[in-house]
Amino acid sequence: MSEFRVELKKIVDDSYNIEIGYDLIDKMLSDIGNGLVGKIHRFAVITDSIVKNLYGDRIIDIMKNKGYDCELFVFEEGEKSKTRKTKEEIEDAMLEKGYRRDCCIIAVGGGVVTDLAGFIAGTYGRGVPFINYATTLLAAADASVGGKTAVDTPLATNLIGLFNQPKKVYIDIAAWETLPKRQVISGLAETVKHACLADRDFFDYLDNNMDAILTMDKNACEHIAKENCRIKYEVVMKDELESGLREVLNLGHTVGRAIETVSDYKLLHGEAVSIGMVAQVKLSAKLQYMTVEECERVISLLRKTGLPTEIPSYIDRDALVKKLYTDKKVRDGKLRFVLQKGIGNIVEYEPGVFSQPIKEELARDIIMSI
Ligand SMILES: NC(=O)c1ccc[n+]([C@@H]2O[C@H](COP(=O)([O-])OP(=O)(O)OC[C@H]3O[C@@H](n4cnc5c(N)ncnc54)[C@H](O)[C@@H]3O)[C@@H](O)[C@H]2O)c1
Repeated sequence: MSEFRVELKKIVDDSYNIEIGYDLIDKMLSDIGNGLVGKIHRFAVITDSIVKNLYGDRIIDIMKNKGYDCELFVFEEGEKSKTRKTKEEIEDAMLEKGYRRDCCIIAVGGGVVTDLAGFIAGTYGRGVPFINYATTLLAAADASVGGKTAVDTPLATNLIGLFNQPKKVYIDIAAWETLPKRQVISGLAETVKHACLADRDFFDYLDNNMDAILTMDKNACEHIAKENCRIKYEVVMKDELESGLREVLNLGHTVGRAIETVSDYKLLHGEAVSIGMVAQVKLSAKLQYMTVEECERVISLLRKTGLPTEIPSYIDRDALVKKLYTDKKVRDGKLRFVLQKGIGNIVEYEPGVFSQPIKEELARDIIMSI
């Protein structure tokens, strides 16, 4: 018998820049020209059926004019497309067009596109570089930054995926102008979540400036774009692979993700997260991690934003309780929740552990009360 040791200690530098600004297509192409992804000359631009007309076609035109070898890969818009099937279809289309390892993927769109395209980039040819060009507020606030990529399955959202960091993220605030109001509001749920978990001043800012944000005031939009990135960066940088601190970004997502699936995606991601935030603050108040007034303040900010704060009547609440067990935080068959401590902080249940076991009866009581 013999045994060999395979020494594979790695020093990896996955650092990247996030550029926040307006109309950043030219900037992205000039970065590519200046070596953002080395000498790569072949690009797969992945987008959805709505963003194609707004940005995808334009990016391809400009790139072709500049002499790049590039093709557009388009899938039907919406969460229902974030599946293994769509991933396979795009991969097959890329293979058919002769894409090999010497290519780079550009994800242009919201969180569905950046999650899906980032996952494709992680497995295509065992991994090719990718760039995120975020066109929704939700992608800017959360999805395009941090390196989590995934697809949904019939059982639950985001169960299959990998950590994969982009080469650069472009947050185009000008793109928010064409977003339907409902999408803008949905995007703000993750922003409220960031304030709740990390920064009481930012929470106050949102509370005092929600009208300006909703009317797309330039300063307000820039401020929330920067604050979202800062808060997410501070958490992700300390815990890239979600072994501890990064769990805090799951705030509101235990019920949020479950209700998103049980609603059969009638609720947008941010809408589902908003209802999940209500469950979370109610639980937190019940366990005396926050006062009833603080709990009410969070719910009232969500309402002011225009987000839903009640479980719609068409949702089967028993099915929702059952669905909670598909959450990735479940351990030894026990539900676990991340909970807010006051406003702007998170309960650290044990040193380095930010989720805590919650009995099903308690979770059920809260769900029945919303
Ligand atoms: N990876 C992460 O860390 C992370 C974090 C939070 C959310 N997410 C994921 O993000 C997804 C939700 O993101 P989303 O809300 O951006 O969804 P989305 O990508 O489906 O975009 C929402 C809608 O807006 C349209 N759209 C995009 N840009 C537009 C523009 N500029 N003008 C007009 N319409 C535009 C899209 O076609 C779509 O219809 C979910 O799948 C969620 O799981 C991921």
